[in-house]
Amino acid sequence: MEGVLHLKVPASTANLGVGFDSIGMALNKYLVITAKRNDQQRWRFKHLGPNVDDLPNDETHYIYQIAQRVASRFDITLPCLDIEMRSDIPMARGLGSSASALVAALYIANHFGALQLSKYELLQLATEFEGHPDNVAPTIYGGLVVGYFDPETGDTDISYIDVPKVDVVITVPSYELKTTEARQALPSTMTHQQAVRSSAISNTMISALIQHNYTLAGKMMEQDQLHEPYRQSLIPEFAEIKQLARSSHAYATVISGAGPTVLTLVHQAYSGELVRTLRSYFPACTSEIVTINESGIVTEIVYPAS
Ligand code: HSE
Repeated sequence: MEGVLHLKVPASTANLGVGFDSIGMALNKYLVITAKRNDQQRWRFKHLGPNVDDLPNDETHYIYQIAQRVASRFDITLPCLDIEMRSDIPMARGLGSSASALVAALYIANHFGALQLSKYELLQLATEFEGHPDNVAPTIYGGLVVGYFDPETGDTDISYIDVPKVDVVITVPSYELKTTEARQALPSTMTHQQAVRSSAISNTMISALIQHNYTLAGKMMEQDQLHEPYRQSLIPEFAEIKQLARSSHAYATVISGAGPTVLTLVHQAYSGELVRTLRSYFPACTSEIVTINESGIVTEIVYPAS
């Protein structure tokens, strides 16, 4: 029996400075979805509350589009569904809202299409659709995930490291920044020397994180050469937030995903004070402490009482 599918899909922060398209961490903000079969001839969407209220109600909906893409990949027909959703993940802010929707769509197609896709297969599909695993992998698995999507083989390989024992502070600007726009700001080539340098910085950052050496990890995180130098002009608050965070003993301040959210890793003793400072300097932004999600997506199937 199909029942009603409930999904709790976490947000994520990608890149962590020097892990462009490869490192991501899940955060405890959620897209929450209920999906059930209807007896209509079409899918119906109900959006509750902020962050989802502008989404379409018809078949242009991203979740519908992705679910149908999965259905055609496996040559199945999905039943028409009623989807109810709410979200505390702001859209187009660099917190993985579209990756959360993508993962939700895959789980919906898997459930109502009776596809029996494993978590591994769902990750492969999610990364293929997204092009990189840095948001979808932590959204599915939780925690801090490092991954590589090989565009030639289509394989995605991932590895985990312990989540850092630090507080995470996010500063979310009031404006949106589309990932496509933020990606257009990037150069298409770099020199071998620059690539060697970036690789050394990233490797050192990961090793330092594994050793819970947050001072060194933070020092490396702030030396990105692959995206932040090209994107920071799109986020006018970035440089000042970084400066203020440094004065509050932060380990590192980076652009969350493609931005415009700015993410700071800071010792637990200083996070509250940092948030209060950021709120006073940037009243138009939302600054808050957000905890790291370690469970990944949570699914529940509820059967009607007979
Ligand atoms: N790694 C991606 C980027 C994350 O920075 O563009 C957003 O999709």
